[in-house]
Amino acid sequence: MSVLVANVGELTTNDDELGVLTDAALVLEGDRVAWVGPAAFAPPTDTRVDAGGRAALPGWVDSHTHLVFAGDRTEEFGARMAGKPYRAGGIATTVSATRAATDDDLREVLRRHVAEAVSMGTTYLETKTGYGLTVEDEVRSARIAAEFVDEVTYLGAHLVPPGADPDEYVELASGEMLEAVAPLVRWADVFCETGAFDEAQSRKVLGSARKLGLGLRVHGNQLGPGPGVRLAVEMGAASVDHCTYLTDSDVDALANSDTVATLLPACDLSTRQPLPDARALIDAGATIALASNCNPGSSYTSSMAFCVTTAVLQMRLSVAEAVRAATLGGARALRRDDIGVLRVGARADLQLLNAPSVTHLAYRPGIPLTWAVWRAGSPVHLPRG
Ligand code: NIG
Repeated sequence: MSVLVANVGELTTNDDELGVLTDAALVLEGDRVAWVGPAAFAPPTDTRVDAGGRAALPGWVDSHTHLVFAGDRTEEFGARMAGKPYRAGGIATTVSATRAATDDDLREVLRRHVAEAVSMGTTYLETKTGYGLTVEDEVRSARIAAEFVDEVTYLGAHLVPPGADPDEYVELASGEMLEAVAPLVRWADVFCETGAFDEAQSRKVLGSARKLGLGLRVHGNQLGPGPGVRLAVEMGAASVDHCTYLTDSDVDALANSDTVATLLPACDLSTRQPLPDARALIDAGATIALASNCNPGSSYTSSMAFCVTTAVLQMRLSVAEAVRAATLGGARALRRDDIGVLRVGARADLQLLNAPSVTHLAYRPGIPLTWAVWRAGSPVHLPRG
């Protein structure tokens, strides 16, 4: 079954040769893009959708979320807005609630948040474990996450659970727990930060994960300068996420590596941290991604459009740079080359905005502009009527 998306006013492809097309069209066939080009040359198809001159772009690739959770941290957020700083220790609140939840409770949270993200244009989602922190609860988190999202990351090294001995916990998280979860996940991550895991502990978890064939990711440089970026680059991690506090040598290291700097501006706003220096990273030649970091503690939003708007209005990115970071950048952070781009053969992940150009994402902050979304060629969000 082929679908012609006709009458596209502006088409952002993220393909270097195709660039941005006006008066364009594209054909989706099965789960792939089958044709992209000027509307006047579109081939015949089984069905046709009229985009009405709207802007089309790849669906958002959200490469950093924590959606396997239960409970609520509104109070902690309120205290933060009253001046209390964000600390890694807040994670423990969600760990208790998550352990107490049933499988179906966790499924319902995932279902709700994935649906919310898709309705706002997200077509590819990563999520992490990390609110279980026992062998059984981490395995359960990974298993249930895999029912709902595209990529699952093991984050047993999120926090030393209250009452546990740090050395014993690192042994567990880099040993029995990791081995039990590894068959269910593609990635392993570690929160390398004061109050979570230090450099040696992080290196141990990442090294064990690599031996098991998992790809690596690091939470680093979120709450202050630290070894996270350096370690991520040294270990060949696909991404280092947060990057709020970077030194010049961190920027250089990222620019000279394949490690993507994943920036999480909604988290920085929600924890009253400075925003990362995206401009310095791009100007130095680093690859950046934008992601939501949707989680109940530090960033309770799944809106990638909000991240794009913030990156433009407050982080000095152009709209094109921010859109690219939230699509192709996310794909690179997940080491995928068939998403985040609209070219023949790519996965048919597409969104139409109820606006003539992507510039409206920043020009009209806060306006829900998602009009239609296709994921792997299937319509997952269509306009009413
Ligand atoms: O990415 N930094 C560590 N993990 C999450 C926060 C999780 C939480 O506070 O519950 C983050 O911000």
